[in-house]
Amino acid sequence: MAPSAPTPYPVPRMTATRARAERYVVHGGAVLRGTVRISGAKNAALAFMCASLLTDDDLILTNVPDIRDAWSLSQLLVALGATVERLDANTFRLSGRGVSTYEAPSELITENRASFQVMGPMLARHGYASSVPPGGDVIGQRPIDVHLSGFEAMGATVTREGEHYVARAPNGPGSLRGARIFLDYPSVSGTQNVMMAATLAKGHTTIVNAATEPEVQQLAHLLNAMGARISGIGNQILEIDGVESLHGTEFRVMPDRIEAGTYAIAAAMTGGDVRLEDAPADVMDALWMKLTAAGVQVEREAPNIVRVAREGRLRAVSFQALPYPGLATDLHAPMAALLTQAHGVSIIHERVFDNRMLYVGELRKMGAEIVSTGSSAIVSGPTPLHGARVRALDVRAGAAVMLAALVAQGTTVIDEIHHLDRGYERLDAKLRALGVDVERTA
Ligand code: EPU
Repeated sequence: MAPSAPTPYPVPRMTATRARAERYVVHGGAVLRGTVRISGAKNAALAFMCASLLTDDDLILTNVPDIRDAWSLSQLLVALGATVERLDANTFRLSGRGVSTYEAPSELITENRASFQVMGPMLARHGYASSVPPGGDVIGQRPIDVHLSGFEAMGATVTREGEHYVARAPNGPGSLRGARIFLDYPSVSGTQNVMMAATLAKGHTTIVNAATEPEVQQLAHLLNAMGARISGIGNQILEIDGVESLHGTEFRVMPDRIEAGTYAIAAAMTGGDVRLEDAPADVMDALWMKLTAAGVQVEREAPNIVRVAREGRLRAVSFQALPYPGLATDLHAPMAALLTQAHGVSIIHERVFDNRMLYVGELRKMGAEIVSTGSSAIVSGPTPLHGARVRALDVRAGAAVMLAALVAQGTTVIDEIHHLDRGYERLDAKLRALGVDVERTA
């Protein structure tokens, strides 16, 4: 019997204005208890979706998080002419079959940062790609020189035409040449973009100073499952032998270490006891170490099950946000929220982005004692927090105010929650299941 046709599961249309008008209303004071299942990793899933442009075959991705960034990226792929089907809330079937335009629509490129990663695959396969600079959180200058100079090293010409960056391979489709490429900075999406392009370049590419983030490693594994020849995965030097073509495969998106970290911090902050299911515990050492130093119990019950609980008082800890395997910059703001409840003075240094301090003003509205100077913050605690009207200024700043709201006395109203929708699947439902009094209202 032929397999039954998949049920079409439409990608939600972007409803920016509605989401902007929505807010979370949180009544503080809950002690979080129970189990939360961690969703697929945003920053892996988005890169994987771009990799579908490298083949005309079907790429089936499972465990894709049901988040706004995945919706906007799938709309971008459709706008390019690619084939995108959503088989259920967390499964996509994608293919580069049908690509008919090489210019990514500006309004979709600026929806998120990952969308610029269509450039490498398009350039490698079709010999031409054009895009405006990507969007994403306003957390620093976020240049793209690493991406562009990687393409140029492989023989492409990159020009600025109006608002657009236009990249042309030397002799049309399939004409990128393997090269030895030094990345000025181990950029996550820069490494991913250049690595994807190199899979179809002629000859051998060496990427020196590559990012080693788990999501980058997973993308390399996906590409190898599609027929690429990448070695050195997880090292700062990647070796890639170009191949003629890639083929389809089925691949599961790894769980999200930042979402897992956010719930771990929520448990710690509220003096709760939460089991994280399907957490990528092996790639979260920095967080486990800092939480333990702060007086939190972190117990690995199974390879991907971690129990996080706290009974005693929280101690101040200082940290630096660093590239992997250092403490992730995406956990900086959530950790700062936690440290408002810790006894003593904590010092935070942000070493990845130059504008990650947007959360400071919002936490101060809730009574936090935080001062920031440049890329550092000093948190004094513990301070009793109170409900206030605050904004989710970027996805992780939004997580920080949500965490603060959990322990605040009274009611916190969080505006601009479309930022949280970009990176957290069913945030309110997951928190409610752990005992939080939170609702989403218009
Ligand atoms: N940088 C350059 N030149 C470049 C690219 C980056 O100098 O061409 C610098 C940036 O200015 C920044 C640093 O490199 O100071 C890090 O940027 P990177 O390129 O590594 O970050 P990204 O690829 O833009 C991804 C994630 C971010 C995460 C960072 C760091 C995606 C879609 N986004 O961004 O995720 O913070 O890596 O781990 O993969 C989030 O999920 O909230 C988020 C912001």
